Amino acid sequence: MTFEYSSAPESKAIVTIDPVYKLFIGGKFVAPKSGKTFTTINPATEEVLAKIAYGEKTDVDKAVKAAQEGLKVWSKMAPSERGKYLYRIARIMQERAREFAVLETMDNGKPIRETRDIDIPLSAAHFFYHAGWADKLEHAGVGNNPKPYGVVGQIIPWNFPLLMLAWKVAPALATGNTVVLKPAETTPLTALLFAQVCQQAELPAGVVNIVTGDGATGAAIVNHPGINKIAFTGSTDVGKLIARSVAGTGKGLTLELGGKGANIVFEDAPLDETVEGIVNGIFFNQGHVCCAGSRLLVQENIQDELLEKLKRRMSQIRLGDPLDKNTDIGAINSREQLEKITELALSGDTEGAERFSASCTIPAKGFWYPPTFFTGVTQAHRIAREEIFGPVLSVISFRTPQEAIEKANNTPFGLSAGVWTDKGSRILWTAKHLRAGVI
Ligand code: NAI
Ligand code: MG
Repeated sequence: MTFEYSSAPESKAIVTIDPVYKLFIGGKFVAPKSGKTFTTINPATEEVLAKIAYGEKTDVDKAVKAAQEGLKVWSKMAPSERGKYLYRIARIMQERAREFAVLETMDNGKPIRETRDIDIPLSAAHFFYHAGWADKLEHAGVGNNPKPYGVVGQIIPWNFPLLMLAWKVAPALATGNTVVLKPAETTPLTALLFAQVCQQAELPAGVVNIVTGDGATGAAIVNHPGINKIAFTGSTDVGKLIARSVAGTGKGLTLELGGKGANIVFEDAPLDETVEGIVNGIFFNQGHVCCAGSRLLVQENIQDELLEKLKRRMSQIRLGDPLDKNTDIGAINSREQLEKITELALSGDTEGAERFSASCTIPAKGFWYPPTFFTGVTQAHRIAREEIFGPVLSVISFRTPQEAIEKANNTPFGLSAGVWTDKGSRILWTAKHLRAGVI
């Protein structure tokens, strides 16, 4: 027996979206010098949500100067006082969690279930966590009397807009830095709501500055001589470009780039649990996850049984209105990303892999891609090598544990991996031989 789901939409009433947003510099919202704007849309409906200020070199310059002014106050403040501001920001984020969740879902396309239960609570938790570190840095294992970098430039992607902001801003502030942050061009709205939270928390002017714009705006931040450190999360190509620009300047740099994570399933794995892990690994957040389990390595003798179970599970996945609380898979973040996913999946067809897609109704408007896997994938196929960053899984079989390791490690990436087996010793053996940061 199957049940039909009635729609259960979350109300948009809690959110107020301004028609035009300015830059957040020195604690105030200021218009960009050129007066230029761009639009951000809701990728589930293609409706324009707002016009956003387009920041250029002169605006970045202004933001860096504001951050340098802010540093005079912030870096001299007693660490416990800095911590109090972070606690205050965390609490306001919790109080306004529903507003953040709805806004994030509208601007990004991801399901409200995820923004409500994951993105926003984790963002607040991150501020709470780093608030606790602010006065304990002497004990953080970085030596006596740790010093801030100064002004930090932070460039973030669109897949977890507020969470990536939290990962960047909270630790930088806790350690006494001030920041100039650029959100991704398709998802600036929660960062701009966060700017309002900074005002509400009475954060000293210039400690957080937000300059909206595109890659050129990001490059202006990277190349600004007044910035002491760059933190970037996004594509590998842009990461390489940034590494080259920063080389030799004395600026600090952290990069968090792409992935092609292997999820390895051995013959003794509990298959129903494994299927849940596979689904979470590749279909969570429409597959827009750097540590997604995008390569499924299955021991050959259980492949048919596992894939049958996976197909059955995929037929239960609900794709559609991201604001509906029943929705599992929302919209692809942008037309460009949808084109990239479509192109790479087509290369799977032409290179000889076999496609299975869950049959779901694709809404008439917006950007969507059905949950899909490919079998018959070889190591040479593009879908085995390139980051698709969408709900598309490449299934590769293996016969021996050694072969699984060789195939899993045959990638230039190394962010993450997963292991499914009943045997503790096999988990440890596999983890030891995998070349990945998090297993
Ligand atoms: P992207 O790397 O171009 O964008 C990420 C951020 O960098 C955005 O804020 C963007 O404005 C900024 N940016 C772009 N060019 C820049 C430059 N030259 N200097 C400084 N900042 C710059 O990523 P995009 O184009 O949105 O996505 C393309 C592909 O990248 C995706 O299909 C996916 O494969 C990968 N990606 C990976 C992410 C991850 O977390 N691993 C996150 C986002 C994208
Ligand atoms: Mg948008």
